[in-house]
Amino acid sequence: MTDTIHYDFVVVSNRLPVDRVVDPDGTARWQRSPGGLVTALEPVMRASRGAWVGWAGQPDLELAPFVSDDATLVPVPLSPIEIERYYEGFSNDTLWPLYHDVIAPPSFHREWWESYVEVNQRFADASARVAAPGATVWVQDYQLQLVPRMLREQRPDLTIGFFNHIPFPPFGLYAQLPWRKQVIEGLLGADVIGFQRVADAGNFSRAVRRLFGYATRTPEIHVPDGLGGHRSVIAKAFPISIDVESFEEIARRPEVQERARQIRDDLGNPSTIMLGVDRLDYTKGIRHRLKAFGELLRDGTLSVGDAVLVQVASPSRERVAAYMQLRDEIELTVGRLNGTYATISHSAVAYLHHGYPREEMVALYLAADVMLVTALRDGMNLVAKEYVACRTDEDGVLVLSEFAGAADELKNALLVNPHDIDGLKEAMVAAVRMPHRERTTRMRALRRRVRDNDVARWSSTFLDTLRHANHHSGAR
Ligand code: G6P
Repeated sequence: MTDTIHYDFVVVSNRLPVDRVVDPDGTARWQRSPGGLVTALEPVMRASRGAWVGWAGQPDLELAPFVSDDATLVPVPLSPIEIERYYEGFSNDTLWPLYHDVIAPPSFHREWWESYVEVNQRFADASARVAAPGATVWVQDYQLQLVPRMLREQRPDLTIGFFNHIPFPPFGLYAQLPWRKQVIEGLLGADVIGFQRVADAGNFSRAVRRLFGYATRTPEIHVPDGLGGHRSVIAKAFPISIDVESFEEIARRPEVQERARQIRDDLGNPSTIMLGVDRLDYTKGIRHRLKAFGELLRDGTLSVGDAVLVQVASPSRERVAAYMQLRDEIELTVGRLNGTYATISHSAVAYLHHGYPREEMVALYLAADVMLVTALRDGMNLVAKEYVACRTDEDGVLVLSEFAGAADELKNALLVNPHDIDGLKEAMVAAVRMPHRERTTRMRALRRRVRDNDVARWSSTFLDTLRHANHHSGAR
């Protein structure tokens, strides 16, 4: 292809920022992709006018690159069997549960691994084709861990960054992976490997030492170059964030505030609205949250009409068995809670199995007195940060799991261990009863923290480190 345009900055992620969806009447349209990765990277891409390489969310789509929101999107096709093996299989039924503390048991299948290697090679080839000489390529997340090395082999001129949006597990768990060495070799092709938490970067460096015996001097890892010297790879924490100003702007719109009031009205004006917002995923602790809330109703500590739990659970990975099972369990529990405690006029749980536009989410955040983020394990959890960013009124209480990366920064939340149902119940009650003055003090501190480290700061810190790292290794 002689007419390919080349870019100085290329982002590579499994998903493009938009998914192609086909409505029941056969019309195709583009829809914003789910999850935290896209939320964080969209503003970065808008500012840099680069290319974004990724999958458009449907099988066998061979599409030419196209421009959307100032970035050029470069679609990478996946066949139905690759979706099954590389995406649903190895990415979301092997790596996802393994990297999230084996909350669900990971499955190990050799055909899934083979497909993962092939698809990673396709992403590396597509990126190599659009990257200008000396370009910076920033590879994202667990679906593409082999791409850094594959890219370096083809294009040693590139500066390569990698960011892992999910946790990196302790060695005792990581060691289960039959392809544990290949994955680390893949990642070590990058100049800088970013993680959400200091603990994740530590887990990674330990795995490198245990499996390869390479010397590490935090944050550097010395990777032998085969010529008696070494390349330095930086492995370090860069906690991701959100575009705070854009959430604040939406939260200040009169029509969004009006919508928040209407939501309260529609729920029958209870004294307390509790809110959970998650992809329907077993890592998010939705069952634990429902259990605690149900017990508070049973004990009479909370009563229907006075308190309601709004749970938005957006559909996710619906063909993976663990997700189907989780949906059944959650819907059974919600049905039981409402059957037992709801009245004709008031539900106990308002359960919504949908994704919503950002404006509606912000209205929900504004309507919620208590935000429940009770993940059993989470790389960061941007919902916690979104809630804080939207509360320009300095009100609202965030109940936050210690096991979400966000807990490292958001120390003024009510921190909980979601496995401890009694502790979770106590935190929920403390949140409901918290005096106004304490709510404001906490929210003010949380807001300061989120505003100090917004997504622009995250990406510029990562990219500065990358520029520096490459400059140093190039100088040797
Ligand atoms: C998390 C992951 C992302 C992923 C998103 C949605 O945020 O870190 O890489 O894109 O979930 O999941 P999905 O499988 O629908 O892309």
